[in-house]
Amino acid sequence: MALSGQRIVIIGGSSGMGLASARAASAAGAAVTIASSDQGRLEAALAGLPGSCEGVVVNTRNEADVAALFAGVGELDHMVYTAGDTARPQPLGDLPLDAARELFEVRFWGAVTAVKHAARRVRPGGSIVLTSGTVAVRPAPGTALAAGNAAAVEGLTRGLAAELAPVRVNAVRPGAIRTSLWDPVPESQRAALFATLADRTLTKSIGEADQIAAAHLYLMENGFVTGTVLTVDGGAVLAGS
Ligand SMILES: NC(=O)c1ccc[n+]([C@@H]2O[C@H](COP(=O)([O-])OP(=O)(O)OC[C@H]3O[C@@H](n4cnc5c(N)ncnc54)[C@H](OP(=O)(O)O)[C@@H]3O)[C@@H](O)[C@H]2O)c1
Repeated sequence: MALSGQRIVIIGGSSGMGLASARAASAAGAAVTIASSDQGRLEAALAGLPGSCEGVVVNTRNEADVAALFAGVGELDHMVYTAGDTARPQPLGDLPLDAARELFEVRFWGAVTAVKHAARRVRPGGSIVLTSGTVAVRPAPGTALAAGNAAAVEGLTRGLAAELAPVRVNAVRPGAIRTSLWDPVPESQRAALFATLADRTLTKSIGEADQIAAAHLYLMENGFVTGTVLTVDGGAVLAGS
């Protein structure tokens, strides 16, 4: 199996893309540690994963949590960072600056914190995979901060690839993916929203978490790929609006 005997840490592994990657990496032979901030969600996720997986409660807003996670894990082969919270579209003019800064806390600064503590423990041949989003290159009104955040992750990815080599650093840039990130949208409106988002792709579809997991596995396994942002978006970046 491709990841046989490898140790993989997935921060954000209790749901969505991270959980799908935990499943896929376990099936490929890896021992997986999932981490997230909510103990209940973490335990529910672990219940559906093989016994080779373990879970650690970590809030990436808290550096001590992140440091303790990696001190406990020790050496690892790959770290995948998918932790993120939901951000409602909002014009910059309506956004208090503290709230604007807060939008970077988990997705950008959390990733920085995780890399800071993971990188020196990554074994030769290993890698780090971060998460941006198509909003980085195809923003809509109300998403300027999300666009800045995702673009910052992509710049961070390239900078870290240069700085941490030979550890490889890549990012996945997802389009709209069916995960619990969309749960705050009332169920009565979700189907219509997904239909609209699907219509803005070339494939006329919403992505599934398994399709992001497949991208994660590719980036972990291919030792000649670093500094890359892999778009998995059904062609949303190319499709007309
Ligand atoms: N779904 C999409 O359409 C889409 C599109 C583009 C980009 N993205 C980005 O992709 C990433 C993954 O999204 P997803 O769709 O897989 O979302 P998801 O299903 O909501 O998963 C998010 C994960 O992040 C964890 N998390 C949230 N805050 C955390 C914190 N402070 N510390 C540690 N873990 C934390 C959550 O677990 P706990 O609640 O237990 O902490 C959960 O495991 C996010 O950054 C999202 O912005 C998503």
